[in-house]
Formats: sequence, C-alpha cells, structure tokens
Amino acid sequence: MIPFSIASPSRLEFGPGKLALVPSIVKTLTPSGLVLVLSDKGVSQTGTPSKVVEALGSVGYTVSLVDSVPPEPSIHDLDRVAAGLKGSAAAIVAIGGGSVMDAAKILAVLAGKGWSTAELAERGVPGRGIPTVMIPTTAGTGSESTPNAIVLFPEKNLKVGIVSPYFMPDRVVLDPELILGLPPKLTASTGVDAFCHLLECFISKKANPMSDMMAREGMRLLLPALPLAYKNGSDIEARSATLLAAYYGGACIASSGTTAIHALSYPLGGTYRVPHGVSNAALLVPVMSYQKKKIAPRLAEAARAIGLVGAGGGSGADEEADLLLQSLDSLVKELKIPTSLKDLGVPDGALASLTEAAYGVRRLLDNNPVDLSREDIRTIYELVK
Ligand SMILES: NC(=O)c1ccc[n+]([C@@H]2O[C@H](COP(=O)([O-])OP(=O)(O)OC[C@H]3O[C@@H](n4cnc5c(N)ncnc54)[C@H](O)[C@@H]3O)[C@@H](O)[C@H]2O)c1
Ligand SMILES: [Fe+2]
Repeated sequence: MIPFSIASPSRLEFGPGKLALVPSIVKTLTPSGLVLVLSDKGVSQTGTPSKVVEALGSVGYTVSLVDSVPPEPSIHDLDRVAAGLKGSAAAIVAIGGGSVMDAAKILAVLAGKGWSTAELAERGVPGRGIPTVMIPTTAGTGSESTPNAIVLFPEKNLKVGIVSPYFMPDRVVLDPELILGLPPKLTASTGVDAFCHLLECFISKKANPMSDMMAREGMRLLLPALPLAYKNGSDIEARSATLLAAYYGGACIASSGTTAIHALSYPLGGTYRVPHGVSNAALLVPVMSYQKKKIAPRLAEAARAIGLVGAGGGSGADEEADLLLQSLDSLVKELKIPTSLKDLGVPDGALASLTEAAYGVRRLLDNNPVDLSREDIRTIYELVK
C-alpha cells in the first residue's frame, strides 16, 4: 500500500436541519465577538444567510453579512471584498458554493495581514487564519473538505489553486435541505464536478487506500443520485447522496489529487469564463477515453464500485471500462450540459493557447497516470466537440 497523509475538518455535521446547529458550532470556535457570514447574491436570495445571521445574533454575536463574493472570484474581487470588511472578525461562516468557501479560506488567512490575494499566492499561506465554518449550498466542489482555494488571475487568463494545510476548514455543516432549491442547470454542472473529483482522484498517481475508499463510495452514491436530483430538486434522499458524495470528492482531493480533466479545464475557465463544472463535464469522457488503454483496469474497478457490472462479473477490464465511459457519456447528455468547445464559447484557433496553458498546470498533470504531451492535450481538446 502506498503511504498517504490526509487532513480533514475537525467536526462534520451531516443531515437535514443541521443548519440549526450553527450557533452552537460557532460557540466551540469563539465564545463571543464579531462573526462574518460570507455568501453571494444568488445564495442570499435563498434566505439561508439571513437565517444564520438571525440565529447568531440571538445568542449574542455581532454579525456582519457580506454577500458580495462573485462566482469564481478573481484575486481583485477578493481584495475588494477584503477591503470592504468592517471590524476584525473572530470567525467566518461561509454559506455558498466553492466560490464562497474558497473566498472564506483566503479572507480567513488575510485577516489582519495587510496582504493582497496575489501576495498570498506568491508568498504562500503563512499560518492558520481565523476559524471557519463551511456550509456548502452546491453539491460540487467539496471545498469544505479540501485544503485548496481556487482563484482567477485575470491578467494571466488563468485559474490557480492555492493549496495549504492552513486552509482546511474547522467545521462543516452538510445540510441537504439547503440544496433543495439549487436550479437543475447548477445541480448538473456542480454534480459532474464532484464526480470528476472522485474519478480523477481514483486514477491519480497519488490514489491511496483512504482516497480509494471514499472515491468508490462517492461514485456509487453520486452516479444514480445526480439524475434524480436534476429531475426532482426536492428529492431529499438524492440531494443527501450528492452532498455526501461531493464531500467525499473533496476529501479525496485532500489526500490524492485531481488530474488531467481539471488541468485542461482551468484554461477554459481562466480564458473563456466557462463555469468550472461545465468545462469539467465537457472534458470528462474525452479525457478518460483518450487514456483508456493505460487505465482500463482502474476504470473497470470504478465501474464495479458503482454497480455497472453485473453480479456474474464482466467480460474483461476493457469492456468494463467501456461500460463506465458509456454511462458517463449518457449522464452528461441526460443532464443537458453543453459539451462542444463551440457551445462553450471557445473560438476556432484557440487550441494552441489552451494547450500551452493546460500543459503548464503541472500541479495536476504530474498526478496524471499517463504522461500527456502537448500533442496529446491538443488531441483531447479536439475531441471536445
Ligand atoms: N477548493 C476546492 O477544492 C475547489 C474544487 C473545485 C472547484 N473549486 C472552485 O469553486 C468554484 C465553483 O464553485 P461552485 O461550482 O460550487 O459554484 P459557485 O460557488 O460559483 O456558484 C455558482 C452559482 O450558484 C449559485 N448558488 C449556489 N448555491 C445555490 C443554491 N443553493 N440555490 C441557488 N443558487 C445557488 C451561486 O449564487 C452562483 O451564482 C470555482 O471557482 C472552482 O474553481 C474549488
Ligand atoms: Fe473541481
């Protein structure tokens, strides 16, 4: 077995209605003081942040609600949010998707430092910031269980992952009731992002017994639940399965790591602002199919973990890997996610720069089980049609 290390939040609450525990959870982090409730406009409209503000206020905290985090924020967006904060918070409660949770990780560390986000990326995270409670409202990024924060560097047209053990959240609340109203389009793209985390970590060079266990279980939960949650947003069992699977996806990232799908996805987000889950969905089948020859046994294992292979066993790794790829292809189609570069707004003639940018994402490509050359990467982009 290969050695591994993993960090995780020190307490996780999972289940419908767990949002009500937030005041008591915050008490375990700070007995009093100013609590920053961080969110974004879309999530604010669901009413969840204001409920939490009220609940924290009723037990004596001073609360500041900031819901100005934009989707997939840039370093400048985060600097703007940081500059607008009033008073020094004793804790941050982040309520939102990956964008809000990643912003919270950065703001927690920047608090009182006087650094910009770019400086943080350049100098590295100097230590733990103020404590954080993460409350995901998408079942996607798994940011609540990763040590990563992803930010856009608009001048470089690149999304960059800042990774530090100091980013690991302190407390996590997974309440499936909060995602009942997530619109189908967002359910689809964020759910496929979670699936990519699980499968990419499963085939990663850094895959290990712990990440494998969570990846198998996460894929088993997610593949059947995602279309159900897409079709009927109020299916609490399906929502619960997707939320837990997304957490497992993040936990896999924390000890293994994503690979070529995410590496090729970042330039699509960085240059053409394709939403993270959408670009991953477009790349999922092309990337895995392209590498199938070398990773068929692993893909076959995933197919078996999900239950795609009948009780009598399959007809060999190659065929079992095909079963997985076919069902992922059907999934992306069923979820109606656009998958051609044209539909994603990528102009003809962009392949050379996309290829160069993706080839530079060494943090992820170095985990990939297949060594991808520039030509390989270009060919994969050509498959995204
Ligand atoms: N830290 C990590 O480990 C990690 C991993 C993968 C991706 N990411 C990053 O996370 C970001 C994407 O996060 P995301 O996919 O969760 O989307 P997001 O946070 O950008 O949210 C997308 C949209 O969904 C809306 N929304 C969220 N929850 C909602 C709800 N319950 N009801 C209605 N609307 C809701 C938001 O208002 C927003 O407009 C990207 O920047 C990506 O790079 C981080
Ligand atoms: Fe992701």
